Amino acid sequence: MLRYCDEIQELGLGGTILFGIPESKDPTGSDACNDEGIIQRAVREAKKRFPDLLVITDLCMCEYTDHGHCGILRDGDVDNDATLELLANAALAQARAGADVIAPSDMMDGRVAAVRSALDSAGFERIPILSYAAKFASAYYGPFRQAAESAPKQGDRKSYQMDPANAREAIKEVLMDIDEGADMVMVKPAMAYLDIVRSVRDAVDVPLFAYNVSGEYSMVKAAAQLGWINESAVMMETLRGIFRAGADAVITYFAPEAARALQKEAR
Ligand code: PBG
Ligand code: ZN
Repeated sequence: MLRYCDEIQELGLGGTILFGIPESKDPTGSDACNDEGIIQRAVREAKKRFPDLLVITDLCMCEYTDHGHCGILRDGDVDNDATLELLANAALAQARAGADVIAPSDMMDGRVAAVRSALDSAGFERIPILSYAAKFASAYYGPFRQAAESAPKQGDRKSYQMDPANAREAIKEVLMDIDEGADMVMVKPAMAYLDIVRSVRDAVDVPLFAYNVSGEYSMVKAAAQLGWINESAVMMETLRGIFRAGADAVITYFAPEAARALQKEAR
């Protein structure tokens, strides 16, 4: 991780978002709230070695729970309000560790307000919230879930993530999150949701992120490996399309490669 931080700082990238994958998971994802948990230790190390690097932390329970859901379960269903308490505690642990921006990605109702009020009452008024505001229940998350071992053991995420067929709900979610105190909002995934990026851009003035997710990245990599596409050209065209749709920032696994390609273009 430190080698990666060094590389992105060296390349002049805007920052990084970190995810925690603990060694052992449990029903309440307790590692997420522990000051010695994996993400807290990683953030402390990253900020100690690279104080100027912008470190965003993903805030969600699914990387920490043994059942793989983004919240805690009651009678087999995700308990929205009980999860808010955990998210608030996990956000505080991330803030204490030195996170610059906290990015709730769970899609529970009311989470931005819960995290904002917890941060404010603990003296972290200045830590901004980047909300995964319009996050769709997408098959494009497959490679991430495989890497994070975070696929739900039972059921799916359709009760809290959005229906890919529903565009108007995205605007509603974004407005609600801004109302609850989100400083920045995100649309996720990116490529199949460029219309959403555009309509969110036209609807609000806060900084807009788009997340070019693991499945989108992997498809380009796989096709390139087969010799079917020009990887660097497709990568740049994809990222330009996301910016053109209205994103101010793109979260992408291509970031180091894209920065290198841009440096080459500039030469
Ligand atoms: C956690 C989370 C996910 C991703 C980012 N944060 C997975 C999910 O909702 O299953 C996906 C990222 C990617 O696919 O690159 N909720
Ligand atoms: Zn999750």
